Amino acid sequence: MIKANITSTGKYLPKNIVTNVDFEKIIDTSDDWIQNRTGIKQRRLVKKNETTADMSTFAIKDLLKKRNLDPNDIDVIIIATITPDMTFPSTAALVQKNLSANNAWGFDISSACSGFLFALETGSALIKSNRYNKVIVVGADTMSSILDYTDRNTCILFGDGAGAVLLEKSHKHGIIDSKLHIDGNGADFLKMEGGGSLNPTTLDTVNNKMHYVYQNGKQVFKHAIRGMSEVSCEILKRNNLNSNDIQLFIPHQANKRIMDAVANRMGLKPQQMFSNIEYYANTTAATIPICIDEAFESGKISKNNNLIISSFGAGFSWGSMYIKWGI
Ligand code: UT7
Repeated sequence: MIKANITSTGKYLPKNIVTNVDFEKIIDTSDDWIQNRTGIKQRRLVKKNETTADMSTFAIKDLLKKRNLDPNDIDVIIIATITPDMTFPSTAALVQKNLSANNAWGFDISSACSGFLFALETGSALIKSNRYNKVIVVGADTMSSILDYTDRNTCILFGDGAGAVLLEKSHKHGIIDSKLHIDGNGADFLKMEGGGSLNPTTLDTVNNKMHYVYQNGKQVFKHAIRGMSEVSCEILKRNNLNSNDIQLFIPHQANKRIMDAVANRMGLKPQQMFSNIEYYANTTAATIPICIDEAFESGKISKNNNLIISSFGAGFSWGSMYIKWGI
């Protein structure tokens, strides 16, 4: 049976660091509150004119260099993002041009914080179809482009960044199992209402701040813990894995309290979970691929290890995936 194996990883984080203390100067908040409630200490934000396509391009270049590949080797580029450079054309098309990846086709996937997981499942299906050899899956978001920096409930939570993985065929290693969900009953709890066909952009949508992230934090918090822990426990159970069999768990990095609660419900010890939320905050579709790259680069995951990744986000959308690491 063909499996989609992750054979290279890459990432890009903007240089510009914004600390919690920087936020104390512009909104009514404190470093203590942000750290205690979220685990975040700082985040990276793009400079003017740096975009999701730019960050994705850098992350892919990093991945290609590590695997000693040429852009012309790429068959497919899938970009998970809710902050594309433009509504259309796709960010994937802009990235294809930046790279001069002349043999690639591709497209964007929009599923907020679960975007990378859903894109990885899609990329895996393309590899398993046996029609494509090298599929790149990116998670990238420029959250600073859709945040209201006067709203303390949301602006402190997010950062900008991009992560990428390369999928190739394997018979032994790679994505073994996954379970993914969406439930539109959660749509009103986390959304950006302006600019779509429901509320096309007008002066009113701008004045009513409808082009910014809105979140009911408490509702999302509750559903995130339940959703990620239930689906991850199900993945463990149906693959006959117990908590000791897992070398690394990478949850979506939205709130350290959510991540700890999920790991705890899965019966994992703190050292089995990967976290970098304190440095980058919530980069939406980019959190998991950035973590995968850092975990691999730092030796926290190595060949034949069992890796579980899990996400929860707007939609609601959530899921869990079991990967037998193969490099
Ligand atoms: O990635 C997509 C998925 N997103 C998530 O998973 C996020 C899920 N939600 C959360 O992480 C948490 O709900 C938050 C971090 C957003 C908020 O934490 P909380 O413990 O649920 O706080 P809260 O919303 O209940 O707010 C408690 C208090 C409120 O004041 P009052 O009403 O008690 O007077 C807020 O106004 O904290 C206040 N508050 C702040 N205070 C200082 C809210 N934001 C801030 C802030 N600084 N930045």
